[in-house]
Amino acid sequence: MSIHKEVKKVTTNTLLKLKSANQRISMLTAYDFSFATIFDAAGIDVILVGDSASNVMAGHETTLPITLDQMIYHASSVVRGVKRSLVVVDLPFGTYQSNSDIALASAIRIMKETGAHALKLEGGEEIVESVKKIVSAGIPVMGHLGLTPQSIYKFGTYNVRANNEAEAEKLKKDILLLQEAGCFACVLEKIPAALAKEVTASLIIPTIGIGAGNGCDGQVLVMHDMLGINNEFNPRFLRKYLNMHEQITNAVTQYIDDVKSGDFPNDKESY
Ligand code: KIV
Repeated sequence: MSIHKEVKKVTTNTLLKLKSANQRISMLTAYDFSFATIFDAAGIDVILVGDSASNVMAGHETTLPITLDQMIYHASSVVRGVKRSLVVVDLPFGTYQSNSDIALASAIRIMKETGAHALKLEGGEEIVESVKKIVSAGIPVMGHLGLTPQSIYKFGTYNVRANNEAEAEKLKKDILLLQEAGCFACVLEKIPAALAKEVTASLIIPTIGIGAGNGCDGQVLVMHDMLGINNEFNPRFLRKYLNMHEQITNAVTQYIDDVKSGDFPNDKESY
């Protein structure tokens, strides 16, 4: 029986149930009301208000510049469009790394001011104290390991992570620590498929992969990538379901032609 079809409102418990029933979890990013409404009605399990908004909405090269206020604006817009999906929001860079009290204060602001259901934090051992504090305040936390874009300047590249033994061992340790600290799920980004599969099998909580192969409990993609809005980002892990860049370009070109030629608006489009 499909849990996905039965569930009226997705909660963190739903994700645990999906994992134990061996049913996959679907997750997509969204940053505004209109797309959130469409994704929710289409039946996506989880909407992530990712700090990738810094890239795809604001045009920054990295996720580092986005602020807590900007994340709150995006998240509250998404929440207004959602009836069924679980809404998870990224704590942005600089709002949780310094200490666990600051992390909790940032977490509380997002929960109070957006109506979102959970938060996501990047990192392992280094952030475990903050995860514990946020979880003890009653706020569900999703982890994020592997390629963690907020640490891009530490790593220097967006290449596959944990493809050597030392990094793989650290990831395995970190994910157990996150599970023990109370995380309800964990994103695994751009790591070898075999490692993601092994780690997924060792956990009670579900893993959500992006560039981590087919052995995770769920998958996430950035909406601009999977809809083909961004035509310059073509990593191996990405499957494009539309070519919106081309479709939008064609529509806008047609509109420009119609305005210039005087074809738009016609009598039926006028009062
Ligand atoms: O910010 C984001 O969109 C993310 C996903 C890539 C998992 O963290």
